Amino acid sequence: MSVAIMLFKRNIAFDTLTLVVVLIIVNIIRQQFFSNSLEIKRFLGYDSDLLLNFTQLANKYGYSSEEHTVVTEDGYLLKVFRIKNKKCEARVKQPPLLLMHGLLQSSDAWLDASPGTGLAYLLADECFDAWVGNQRGNYYARRHLTLNPDKDSAFWDFSVDQIGYYDVPATIDYVLSNTGVKKLNYIGFSQGAGTFLVMCSERPEYCKKTNVLISISPATRVKHTKSKSFRSLLNILSTCEDLLAQLKVNELFGKESFLQVLFEFICQIRLFSEPLCENFLCGILDSSHPGSITHKTFGMVYSHLPAGTSLRNMARYGQSLNAEDFQKYDFSETVNVVKYGSKEAPAYNLSSVSLPVVIIYGANDHLVDTKDINWLVDKLPNVIGLEEVADPLWNHLDSVYSQHIYKMIWPTVRRYLESFSETYMKTKS
Ligand SMILES: *[C@@H]1O[C@H](CO)[C@@H](O)[C@H](O)[C@H]1NC(C)=O
Ligand SMILES: *[C@@H]1O[C@H](CO)[C@@H](O)[C@H](O)[C@H]1NC(C)=O
Repeated sequence: MSVAIMLFKRNIAFDTLTLVVVLIIVNIIRQQFFSNSLEIKRFLGYDSDLLLNFTQLANKYGYSSEEHTVVTEDGYLLKVFRIKNKKCEARVKQPPLLLMHGLLQSSDAWLDASPGTGLAYLLADECFDAWVGNQRGNYYARRHLTLNPDKDSAFWDFSVDQIGYYDVPATIDYVLSNTGVKKLNYIGFSQGAGTFLVMCSERPEYCKKTNVLISISPATRVKHTKSKSFRSLLNILSTCEDLLAQLKVNELFGKESFLQVLFEFICQIRLFSEPLCENFLCGILDSSHPGSITHKTFGMVYSHLPAGTSLRNMARYGQSLNAEDFQKYDFSETVNVVKYGSKEAPAYNLSSVSLPVVIIYGANDHLVDTKDINWLVDKLPNVIGLEEVADPLWNHLDSVYSQHIYKMIWPTVRRYLESFSETYMKTKS
């Protein structure tokens, strides 16, 4: 009996070892022989949209896109795009607005659902002056003035704490100085909203540079996250953070990482896409909403997600699964005393979120639970709108990728934005 168990255990250990070795060899082969991944993808017959970056995609569908680079106070270089519908040349809406993606996404997420549905396209169609940001660590924000993300682990010493403190304010300042106005409007999804609230807590003067925050499924406290798989992943990462950091695994889930490439490949194949890719994101990670996200969008999603972040950021989410408050990254007690002046990681001060806030959420969101949304609403002093999406199956990812965005989310976003915007006629000179 015990011999059988030992053999069984040995078999598992052996299988795991074999799998790891195979993965490493495949990865080496890939890096050696397939350095130009675009060419291979073209050769393999990937949907051509998958091979395009933000500007190329926008251009392909008749929009124009400007590329800008924001430099943060601590030296990170972030790409920001400005998307325009050409028919709006003479009548743009003011002030500009900044659209910010969620965890492991990039600006491309707002284009994944295609024209007529993706929020960046819809905003441009309505002649809003839409700027689309990126947060440090993703493939449009993996650059620094002095640090090399491939060599310097210090590049990856960040979580939403630094994204909210540096990236969001720097991007806001950039848009304001480029457009010459004093205030803008802000739309944030999940982490893109959470990091705005971090900013308001830590640098309240920036809160005042914004007329309205439209937050879609804002990720702050995530104590009630229902997704078991997401909880397990985050718990493992936060438990093993020190070990992984010692192994120099500081960046997680980057674009062109083995996992991303593998999923992207599998998800191109219709036969596998539904049972594996669609089920993984919506059935396992988030919650099921059959037919909401199209096959074509799933292909796009897996070529842009995961877009990369730091181990530290994932570990902080792991900590927050068990925290009562929306709080900063928890170092050890002794380090906390040095960094924060207290043994415990401090909570963000949500009373200092002075601007009007709109919250849009889905009842079937298994990542940001309604209980945590209600907790946030109680903490915020100036919530002017709390809108549950009418579809009871609306989940977390639907707000960015669903084919029903135009009907389910867009009217609300548009209504609130309009009330903080005016149409500005450009005089030709
Ligand atoms: C997108 O692709 C175009 C064309 O190859 C290139 O000029 C541009 O720099 C790319 N933009 C970014 C942000 O990578
Ligand atoms: C939180 O912010 C509010 C409003 O700005 C301020 O009155 C309060 O003192 C702050 N609380 C803490 C603990 O800093």
